[in-house]
Amino acid sequence: MSTSRRKMLIDSAVATTATLFGVRAFAAPPPLAKKAKYKVGFAQSESNSPWRIAETKSMRDEAARLGHQLVYTDAASSAAKQASDVSSLIAQGVDVIFLPPREDKPLVPVILAARKAGIPVILLDRDVDHTMAKPGEDYVTFIGSDFVEEGHRVAEWLVKNAGDRTSIIEIEGTVGSSPANDRKRGFDELIKQHPKFKIVASQSGDFSRDRGRQVAETLIQAHPTADIIYCHADEMALGAIAALEAAGRKPGKDVLVVSIDGGHDGVQAIVDGKIGASCECSPLFGPKAFATMAAYAAGEKIPAYIKSVDRFYDGSNAAASLAGAY
Ligand code: AHR
Repeated sequence: MSTSRRKMLIDSAVATTATLFGVRAFAAPPPLAKKAKYKVGFAQSESNSPWRIAETKSMRDEAARLGHQLVYTDAASSAAKQASDVSSLIAQGVDVIFLPPREDKPLVPVILAARKAGIPVILLDRDVDHTMAKPGEDYVTFIGSDFVEEGHRVAEWLVKNAGDRTSIIEIEGTVGSSPANDRKRGFDELIKQHPKFKIVASQSGDFSRDRGRQVAETLIQAHPTADIIYCHADEMALGAIAALEAAGRKPGKDVLVVSIDGGHDGVQAIVDGKIGASCECSPLFGPKAFATMAAYAAGEKIPAYIKSVDRFYDGSNAAASLAGAY
């Protein structure tokens, strides 16, 4: 081990010890040595949607463009597998780990283990519970969308555009994930300020099209007068549309569907009049992720949160924006 690498690990161990004794002021994630090429771990949570596939492609493309080695794992929708994937990346001695934590608590122990092993972690697209691990201390930063704001933006659009529709079914994302928690919080918070609206049912569709369809099937039967469906992601909105059509209801007419993600299929559904609006949540993290890694290695101060800039689609811009949707 080189002297500089040993010194960095010692500094990091000192920072960890400081944390153990409650002196968090000195805590810092492990440093990253400056190198031309890195061995980079990317522990994806699943590959069951165009969103995840686009995220993985963006990471792969940027790693290839820069000549870094990307060690990729796919947790197949299991937080436990994702944790063991991160452990395996630590054992393989990667230089840095990019992680979209499927849920906000189960991945914390391996984030802390990576830190202990001297490997900096950068969270992508999903965050963890800050009472258990902190950006700028236990991991470098969280790069992603502001999920509370996404929920607000969709609710604001409904307040302006729902007409006399008021009865809402909410189909949530993966239980215990930061986007599901925050999209619910943002949306519910704003909708509560407009008492004519009522959320009549709220259930998880696990960010998947199939699950979204099944949940929508059940909820539209249980609440036949509901006339709005708010989905935490396009995939579930497309599942809900399938459920409505199978039940002989017209999405966009009988029931207004609103969503988040703004992917190509979601924007196409706006053009087709089946989704009213979708707030973009871009999965194209590659360039930002690797630029942040390089800045960190160069010793720059990295903010605890790097916010994605997202668009908003509705009938006014969907057709013109379709070609640019991921
Ligand atoms: O974490 C971001 C969310 O995860 C996206 O909105 C969703 O489609 C994905 O599964």
